[in-house]
Amino acid sequence: MGIRIEGNLFYIQSKEMSMIIENKEGDLLLRHIGGKIAKYHGSNAILEKDHAFSGNPTPDNRTFSYDTQRQVFGVHGFGDFRQPSLKIAHANNELTQFKLTSSEILNGANEATGLPNPHSTEDAETLVLTLEDKVAALELKLYYTAYADCSTISTHAEVRNLSDKAVVINRVLSTMLDVPASAYDVVTLQGAYAREKTVRRQKVEQGIFTVASNRGASGHSHTPAMILCEHTATEDAGQALALQLLYSGNFQAFVQKNQLNEVRLGIGINDDNFAWQLSAGDSFETPVALLTFSNHGLGKLTQESQLFIQDHIMPKQFAHAERPILINNWEATYFNFKKEKLLDLADEASKLGIELFVLDDGWFGNRFDDNRALGDWVVNEEKLGGPLNDLIAEVHAKGLKFGLWFEPEMISVDSDLYRAHPDWAIQAEGRGHTYSRNQLVLNLANPDVVAYIKAAIDKILTENTIDYVKWDYNRNITNIGNGDTYLATQMQSHDYMLGLYDLVSYLTEKHSNILFESCSGGGGRNDLGMMRYFPQVWASDNTDAISRLPIQYGSSYLHPTISMGSHVSASPNHQMGRTTPIETRGNVAMMGNLGYELDLTSLPESDKEVIAAQVAYYKEIRPVIQFGKQYRLINPEEGSNEAAVQFVYEDKVVVTYVRTLSTIEIIETTLKLKGLEEEALYCLQGTDQVYSGAELMYAGLIAILPQGDYLSKQYYFVKQ
Ligand code: DGJ
Repeated sequence: MGIRIEGNLFYIQSKEMSMIIENKEGDLLLRHIGGKIAKYHGSNAILEKDHAFSGNPTPDNRTFSYDTQRQVFGVHGFGDFRQPSLKIAHANNELTQFKLTSSEILNGANEATGLPNPHSTEDAETLVLTLEDKVAALELKLYYTAYADCSTISTHAEVRNLSDKAVVINRVLSTMLDVPASAYDVVTLQGAYAREKTVRRQKVEQGIFTVASNRGASGHSHTPAMILCEHTATEDAGQALALQLLYSGNFQAFVQKNQLNEVRLGIGINDDNFAWQLSAGDSFETPVALLTFSNHGLGKLTQESQLFIQDHIMPKQFAHAERPILINNWEATYFNFKKEKLLDLADEASKLGIELFVLDDGWFGNRFDDNRALGDWVVNEEKLGGPLNDLIAEVHAKGLKFGLWFEPEMISVDSDLYRAHPDWAIQAEGRGHTYSRNQLVLNLANPDVVAYIKAAIDKILTENTIDYVKWDYNRNITNIGNGDTYLATQMQSHDYMLGLYDLVSYLTEKHSNILFESCSGGGGRNDLGMMRYFPQVWASDNTDAISRLPIQYGSSYLHPTISMGSHVSASPNHQMGRTTPIETRGNVAMMGNLGYELDLTSLPESDKEVIAAQVAYYKEIRPVIQFGKQYRLINPEEGSNEAAVQFVYEDKVVVTYVRTLSTIEIIETTLKLKGLEEEALYCLQGTDQVYSGAELMYAGLIAILPQGDYLSKQYYFVKQ
């Protein structure tokens, strides 16, 4: 069973992972998190010693201090000087000392009310640990779910005010873990607009290393995730633990090494702009966090995380459904289009075998540029040459599905919506606005605003035959206040997130046949909170194939490949000005969900022939990329001139190799394939050449490219 209670030990057992917590006189101590252990006997117990300057809760035992104990959810203010998990202002202090009062085991997964949750399975079990601080009159519940099919544990916390007075939560993490002193590295996904999710690995040193967002969205610059691995861990060996948060707003994730080299990890909502008033009797639930473990290096950690997200986070109807190959008109036309141009594009796309036509920004209200009309979700029939459904019918008649762009959370000052409801924009009284892309953010903490957006988007999705929605979000939140004084207390970023999850769960459940893609100027909100509702993400506005190599490497480091939209665009590229062969643009985009975003009507015939062949070939390999196991062969890290990635699904194997710049000598790179059957024979498609799995893995495959920049090659094997 997933959860076991034996004496004073709690065992939380997922597929190949254990978490073991001890109840020591009411204090919860973390004895182990990592590889599976059936029975624990205290082999890694800390040395009971009097540590100078660490406080002792009792006078008769100088060897016990909260400062040196490995805890889950540390006691706060009693001599533990590390980062706290909780800070609650009650009476006239922030001290909390919770002691365990009861435990129970529930069937199914833990669920945080109003927030994104993992899908449960029949064999999932949840341990609920209930603690109480009698002085503060507060209750704390910690939830830990074990899954039999994945090496992941999900967890969250809930605080209840048992007193008759309001208290204020100034900090509450979703989870906190203390792990033994050792040499660790921390891996995070960092970046900026148009260079999202750069994989960054560094040694954990004494002090605190944090990644966070205070933008009201998870943001382009950090991802709500942190990996702790052994300093010696490689792609294929060593232990690694990933923490991820199912949340799309302000977050923090930290690793702290203290003076004794013990290491504390935590992840949760950012304290910034968070001071949650908890009335008497009320409770507050944190977002859910995921803990994923690998005993076989970072490559296996990726596979385990991808597996959990595909099976337990993504909307079920899309998790294992092939994604259509699309054409998006954004980089083909920007705002400059009429019906005829759109139909010409659709016509060309249909001839090339493309399956979905996406109409991007500019189809509604007075939206002739990006300065106006956000909020006015009314079809511009002049631009579309008539009702939207007529255009859709013509696109459908060409054998293409139809997708539409929205940016529902925003409002332009030049819009009918703003003229009617200027107070619906987030703003603080007497302060004016701060603009970004000349737009403002709607206050989703106000139910009237959420009701308006629900109705406006629902109307378009109900009245028109739409197969796909691209949901954009093109600025971050500033001037936090209540324009309409709706809330009694100060509006907070977390209020916004609760409104957002209400909105997206309503629309995605009501229109469950529509494939939703999330976007925030590319990957500005590429997190598991959004992925719970939107199974696809536009990974970056940077469509240059070479810039995409590190972006796609990082975007699929923890998230499944099937979540990643990836497009072939024009050359020279609009963001980078780089000229790249159409073959390489295709090969790179085929490492995700393939799409095209360029003016197909103005391409030379030779490019169209290549695109038609790419589309036909991608339809053959699509299940391998979207449902297969990913193996990284060469990582496109800083300074690397090459990248190679492999996918294996059933009897098929796809390997993509890219070399950035030409070299003076032809260098033969040997790609040692992974995850094959040693004895099986694999036939290289397009040739009669057959190799054994052992040969491909141990002797390797020589990848040779002619001289020239930005060249690539794809190998496709089928097992005989
Ligand atoms: C930002 C997106 O990332 C682009 O793909 C495009 O949809 C524009 N917004 C449209 O305004």
